Amino acid sequence: MFPVIRVEQIGDYEGQEVTIRGWVYNRTHKGKLVFLLMRDGYGFAQCVGFKNDLPADLFDAMTRIPQESSVIVTGVVRADPRAPGIPGGYEVGITGFEVVQAVEGEYPIALKEHGVEFLLDNRHLWIRTPSQWAVLRVRAVVIAAIHEWLADNGFIHMDTPILTPAACEGTTTLFGTEYFDEGVAYLAQSGQLYNEANIFAFSRVYCFGPTFRAEKSKTRRHLTEFWMVEPEIAFCDLDGVMEIEEQFVSHIVQTALKKCAPELKALGRDVTALERVTPPFPRISYDDALAMLAEIRAQTEDPEAKALLDIEWGMDFGSPHETALTKKFDKPVFVYGYPTAVKAFYMEPWPGRPEVCKSVDLLAPEGYGEIIGGSERISDPDLLLQHIHEHNLPEEAFKWYIDLRRYGSVPHSGFGLGVERTVTWICGIDHLREAIAYPRMINRVYP
Ligand code: 4AD
Ligand code: MG
Repeated sequence: MFPVIRVEQIGDYEGQEVTIRGWVYNRTHKGKLVFLLMRDGYGFAQCVGFKNDLPADLFDAMTRIPQESSVIVTGVVRADPRAPGIPGGYEVGITGFEVVQAVEGEYPIALKEHGVEFLLDNRHLWIRTPSQWAVLRVRAVVIAAIHEWLADNGFIHMDTPILTPAACEGTTTLFGTEYFDEGVAYLAQSGQLYNEANIFAFSRVYCFGPTFRAEKSKTRRHLTEFWMVEPEIAFCDLDGVMEIEEQFVSHIVQTALKKCAPELKALGRDVTALERVTPPFPRISYDDALAMLAEIRAQTEDPEAKALLDIEWGMDFGSPHETALTKKFDKPVFVYGYPTAVKAFYMEPWPGRPEVCKSVDLLAPEGYGEIIGGSERISDPDLLLQHIHEHNLPEEAFKWYIDLRRYGSVPHSGFGLGVERTVTWICGIDHLREAIAYPRMINRVYP
């Protein structure tokens, strides 16, 4: 009996005979040698069978084993810098080979180019592919780093409801569902409003759950179901929340660099851009961002690109604006003080300038754009009620929320970080749909 290893730790077993349980990702056969690229869930390792060292029937079985068959391989680990794999650099000289299940017929995702819709239809299989596997491993590390930083900084994790009576982030993206005799309930767009109740009991809290937006736009940055972590902090203003965000995001990125080097390498990610992600991050106002955009626009020659950069004071940024702005910075950048009219009802107005609010978005560099939305919240009950009316929101559903401003109101702030946006940026991939195992989009709920 030999130790069953996890391929991610293969380097610890150099010179030893080990067992790998997994699946045949790829097979090539050259004369007296057969190469099996094995994946065991923890990594990918090249295993080599040499005809002269093995019983004829075993060698023969290896030369014919179909892609994705489940097998148990035994062999001796040796260092070889050329050996492919994740982490790679080690090869296994096969001494034993057992088939658990030989695949019959062709595996749908044969090793050739496929269209993305086909791959998404086969997402249940596609996640086995190295690039997809690597992204989802990074995602798991990002989520663990989120919990770790928050726990270390005095935040307690509170679960907030998914079925809710009211909108948090605008009424146009609500998913409604019939709820017995209570009328319509909505899938949560955010847990923020409940976080705001929770801080008055626990001071620093966060919720972390799936959130839902009936986003009608088909973009590479939008899902209809996505995961968001939302910290909320009592006695915290806009500057305070930016300080927390830059510490938090830096920890997430640095943890991913430390723990996911093989995955990021497999994805071909240039990590130097990530290494720069340390506090402090630059902070610019919406007004200054507009001026920067006007300058970028003036320097843009292509008329189509120029038109995309059109913007007037009062408009929210679209992807082209965010992309252009972030290319001017080599770190994530805070843009604060957006026009009140484009932001949510709960945001504290700028003192003496009510057309601007104490909101802040964090935009990721390299063109990735918004990964965090946050703000200081209105702390005055009368002003809050006025905003609820101005947004035509049902006062009844917000009664409890206004209560929070009646009993011990304090300045408070919070933010939401989108997990898929963050993972997409860290992995350097193009589309949010690859940053979640089973993406939900306007035209997709399968598989
Ligand atoms: O800016 P948003 O809408 O802010 C809120 O929901 C606040 N209630 C958060 C808070 O202050 N507690 O969303 C926050 C983040 C965005 O920056 C983005 O990363 C992500 O959530 N996000 C989406 N990700 C994927 N698909 C979508 N449709 C998303 N909408 C927002
Ligand atoms: Mg936002």
